[in-house]
Amino acid sequence: MAVPLMDPNAQFAPYLSELEQIAADVIRSGRFIFGPEVQAFEAEAADYLGVRHAVGVANGTDALSIALRCLGVGPGDEVLCPAYTFFATPETISSVGATPVFCDVDPVTACIDVDDARAKVTGRTRAIVPVHLFGQCADMVALRELATERGLALLEDAAQAWGAEQGGTKAGALGDAATFSFFPTKNLPAFGDGGMITTDSDEVAELARMLRFHGSKDKQTFTHVGYNSRLDAIQAAFLRRHLREVDSWNEHRRTVAGWYAEAGLGELVELPAVAEDNVPIWHLYVVRTDHREALLAACSERSVGATVYYGSPHHLQPVYADLGYGAGDLPVTERLCATGVALPMFATMTRAQVDEVVEAVRAGVPAGVR
Ligand SMILES: Cc1ncc(COP(=O)(O)O)c(C=O)c1O
Repeated sequence: MAVPLMDPNAQFAPYLSELEQIAADVIRSGRFIFGPEVQAFEAEAADYLGVRHAVGVANGTDALSIALRCLGVGPGDEVLCPAYTFFATPETISSVGATPVFCDVDPVTACIDVDDARAKVTGRTRAIVPVHLFGQCADMVALRELATERGLALLEDAAQAWGAEQGGTKAGALGDAATFSFFPTKNLPAFGDGGMITTDSDEVAELARMLRFHGSKDKQTFTHVGYNSRLDAIQAAFLRRHLREVDSWNEHRRTVAGWYAEAGLGELVELPAVAEDNVPIWHLYVVRTDHREALLAACSERSVGATVYYGSPHHLQPVYADLGYGAGDLPVTERLCATGVALPMFATMTRAQVDEVVEAVRAGVPAGVR
């Protein structure tokens, strides 16, 4: 039995005709950019997350650039971020003229190591951008303490964490602002690109609304150099409908994680762990093994999806060579880059598919080898 790494389309099958109707309604409305669908989605998203403002933008990368600027990050500033994340995190810090300061990650959550972040604060540090990697929150209590103590802005990169919680609060409501991506493989997916900035601050929200639209409130007066970063009405309409499903999709992903453990995957590879207080949403299910090539080969032979995310840490990327990091500087990050492998995880995955994946892994990494 072939098992894909992810299967985004399968989850829409039960309400495909409704989605077709939604698309038809938007087409007939003639409102394709912003408009009532975007407004309604922003209100429903803010309500779901428990924040005062949600601002739709074109994608999660723009959301980061805009949110960084809204929090006052600019040329000459340093911003603390993990080196183990999607490239958009440091890329946007650089794109607003600041310098990413790469921190190691916690071996349990794979999110930013707060002690390392604390040690790297300087007089130029302006913000911290923790990433809720693979759908599990960074330690926001300790980060909030650090941010308050040193007067830093705290921006959650929650691209991978729609619906995740820490201490009963949703990702997206844990920092000064947060950003999301609605890329089609994300837990809350669009049928194309989409993104969002969330915040409780009226000032941040107002500036974000201007920056996403060329730095203007009214198309007449331009007070900032901004972006053309709009959320399409058709994506907002689809997202509103998916929002009604996302909790059950996330719940099923947690069930799948439980099945992996039950099926004995933990005897073969190191399973991802969850910190106390966190409710993860398993955007990706990333196990760790010293025998990654053998695992990948066995999965490929059986048509089981398995792939490496972030195989090369950002502090060692050529684009950041000038920053002067060297191999061995961020040992946990480097180890995760060398040993992490994502196994199939999706909202319609069956127990039989889980068993198939575990058998494929066993063929590559026999019990006792780990
Ligand atoms: C952690 C993280 N940040 C930012 C982004 C950027 O989002 P987008 O692809 O919507 O621009 C992603 C997307 O993969 C991501 O995983």
